[in-house]
Amino acid sequence: MRHPLRGAGVFVVALLGAAPAFATSTGITGQSGKDGVTCSTCHKGGEMPTVVLEGPTTLEPGATGQYTFIIRGGAAKTGGVGIAVDSTAANLQAGTGMKKLGNELTHTAPQAFTGTELRFNFSLVAPSTDVTLTVFGAGNSTNADQGSDGDRAASTKLSVKVGNGSPVVDPVPGGEGDGGGGCTAASSAPVWALALMALPLAARRRRQR
Ligand code: HEC
Repeated sequence: MRHPLRGAGVFVVALLGAAPAFATSTGITGQSGKDGVTCSTCHKGGEMPTVVLEGPTTLEPGATGQYTFIIRGGAAKTGGVGIAVDSTAANLQAGTGMKKLGNELTHTAPQAFTGTELRFNFSLVAPSTDVTLTVFGAGNSTNADQGSDGDRAASTKLSVKVGNGSPVVDPVPGGEGDGGGGCTAASSAPVWALALMALPLAARRRRQR
């Protein structure tokens, strides 16, 4: 039998796919590598630059960290960037030459390289609760021809532990390291972990009916 929700799922996927399709030199979202794609989807033909994301890998909850995304090599005339974080509770703040677009950061216009590198400074305000988040960045090294040829992007990511980080989910329930009681059972982590694990199970059970 046809599942009543199948049509709705296709609709949502279509919407997501359509959203970031506007490409311009004045900034773009959805290309940081967080969703598996980077600027290289369109920017081709140039040499691959190297990119680095520098900054603190631990932050106190609510604290602000200063980060730098650096592009080196490639066409290296001008460049742009896409930065995203996998927690909606974290807040990215644009530095010079950047702007906020949705929840992400991108360049305002193609930025000129200084010597062999191009730096983008930005800050990240950590969520107020403990979590381990990932910052994603894609950097495009471009040849300043106002087109997408002769350019190429590379991407990287950085894991940032906020407070004590996300609770570690034991992959083998009841297996080694499960604790099986004692202090670990008293923490709230196993409860939400079980709830999370139950979700896809419940969904699968429903679908099989
Ligand atoms: C869907 C295709 C597409 C994607 C994805 C895309 N761009 Fe572009 N980009 C273009 C096109 C087309 C142009 C030329 C027209 C213009 O200037 O907007 C361009 C121009 C540029 C330029 C000027 C290039 C030059 O040689 O003068 C920069 C810089 C740039 N994009 C940065 C980025 C960055 C950074 C990303 C990823 C975070 C990105 N673009 C993703 C299509 C894309």
